[in-house]
Amino acid sequence: MRLIVQKDYETMSTWAAYYVARAIIKAEPKQNSPFVLGLPTGSTPLGMYRILTDLYNQGVISFRHVVTFNMDEYVGIPSDHPQSYRRFMQDNFFSSIDIPKENINFLDGNAPDPDEECRRYEQAIDSYEGIDLFLGGIGTDGHLAFNEPGSSLTSRTRVKTLAEETRVSNSRFFDHDISKVPQYALTVGVGTIMDAREVLILAYGHSKARALKHVIEEGVNHMWTVSALQQHRRATILCDEDATDELTVGTVKYFKQMEAPNLDPDKLLDSVRR
Ligand code: PGA
Repeated sequence: MRLIVQKDYETMSTWAAYYVARAIIKAEPKQNSPFVLGLPTGSTPLGMYRILTDLYNQGVISFRHVVTFNMDEYVGIPSDHPQSYRRFMQDNFFSSIDIPKENINFLDGNAPDPDEECRRYEQAIDSYEGIDLFLGGIGTDGHLAFNEPGSSLTSRTRVKTLAEETRVSNSRFFDHDISKVPQYALTVGVGTIMDAREVLILAYGHSKARALKHVIEEGVNHMWTVSALQQHRRATILCDEDATDELTVGTVKYFKQMEAPNLDPDKLLDSVRR
């Protein structure tokens, strides 16, 4: 697992957007061989979505042959609710780019049979022969998608009960009223994410520092589900300086030394523009 540390939120978001853009451009996706992206919601990826939208507006990248699978959705709130993840993605990304509607995949949090809905989602991912690049965030409790502490590290898409810590954290989007935060969500499993060909996790701010310590410096542990990525063939955690606050100085130095020379954000896109 790689760790890439950027100075602040803006440089982290730029790095992520350029990396994603480069991956799509390099794959040369076509109608019958699209690039398949797994996508997160939350506050962390907003900067990345903004910069990807800028790259689209500048004509650097197109999403015409990109297929997306969002990683999770709340159960029981209307799909046009301001906090539904479908609406979040529409407002913050999809409405501003050229992705065809039929290429966008979501879990339906109002499906009459949630288990069947989760099976359908796994089959839909399989029908594209898996996900090329799964992007994600990390919860303050170390969760990956809504795979809360104690989730099976081989889990597939299913219904999950949200942890108290997650509901408190997400209540900032629900008038700071935890009673308005749904109790359940549909989420891809840790195993679903582990099957992706590549995974990139974004972590921003001091509130993620405790989770990063467990995930990076300790072993694979179901209480910090992002730690499963230690066993992924191609996983990267991208963070800002504040998120490294609980790592040892030696760990941060080590990863910075390993990655610094060849991953300058400005060089990422240059390599495909030429
Ligand atoms: P955040 O959420 O980006 O809003 O911090 C991340 C997550 O819970 O996975």
